[in-house]
Amino acid sequence: MASKPSLLVTRRMPDAVTARASRDYDAELNPDDRIMPQDEWLAKAEGKDGLMICSSEKVTAEAVARLPGSVKIISTFSVGHEHIDIEAVKASGRTVTNTPDVLNEAVADIAMLCLLGAARRAHEGQTLVRQGEWNGWYSTMLLGKDLTGARLGILGMGGIGQAIARRARGFGLAVHYHNRTRLAPELEGDAIYHDSAEGLAAVADFLSVSCPSTDETRGMVDADFIAALPPGAVLVNTARGDIVDDDAVIEALQSGRLRAAGLDVFKGEPALDVRYRSLPNVFLLPHLGSATDNTRDAMGFCCLDNLDAFFAGKACPTAL
Ligand code: DGY
Repeated sequence: MASKPSLLVTRRMPDAVTARASRDYDAELNPDDRIMPQDEWLAKAEGKDGLMICSSEKVTAEAVARLPGSVKIISTFSVGHEHIDIEAVKASGRTVTNTPDVLNEAVADIAMLCLLGAARRAHEGQTLVRQGEWNGWYSTMLLGKDLTGARLGILGMGGIGQAIARRARGFGLAVHYHNRTRLAPELEGDAIYHDSAEGLAAVADFLSVSCPSTDETRGMVDADFIAALPPGAVLVNTARGDIVDDDAVIEALQSGRLRAAGLDVFKGEPALDVRYRSLPNVFLLPHLGSATDNTRDAMGFCCLDNLDAFFAGKACPTAL
């Protein structure tokens, strides 16, 4: 029997994914899940045929230049791929894959949790109850912002944005969106397209950041963008922290220009801007978007499907 391809799996994976990787590959695992410095994972890549990585491994052009010649494919356990210099990987003759679509529904659930958590002041409510400071019901206690009849602006209408739109309609929100390309009518449905991000901002009582982090989108939600939102808008970010300008968001949350925010992702996470922690009108989660049993299994299986196809000489299902 031909020997199995060798694989470096840089982070701990869900059990079912680990079992399949160990069954089908000569896999070096990281059961302790210690994040390895670049030098270390590059050294461990020596002699490996493939790498299964996460966003913790920064595959810069410099790292690509240092990759051992044995490595022919890099499969990232994420839909986001801003941690990889895709052009450099491809130019080196290697294949690179990600995990689109399988996490759309889970991330959309978390976007709605962030939206509701921010709109309905879940953090303040939780704090009252947990700290024993809830002294009873009164008619003006922790009043929030209605979803029904409000407009949700979705910045980035890929699979995740579309899954958010499906949920939002059920909450009575009118869906508006901006995307590089307008959706086909059957995907767009009753969503209203705006051909500029500024145009979307002007109508977004709620704004969901749902686009990838790219050179074009980084820092897009800045002071000017926030000034274009309706006063008292609610910001939701389940995409990437660097798409928003933290100084501008925090200032707007302090002044009330933004009524609230629900944030699952942060620039430099887990070392988020500490000012977020003390703002009462922010609902914070630790990058839980795709964190469900089935979704994390599906992400791992998607990586392995790509690796299997590659080593069988077939086209990778989700090559970048
Ligand atoms: C993704 O898949 O990009 C998630 O945000 C996890 O990094």
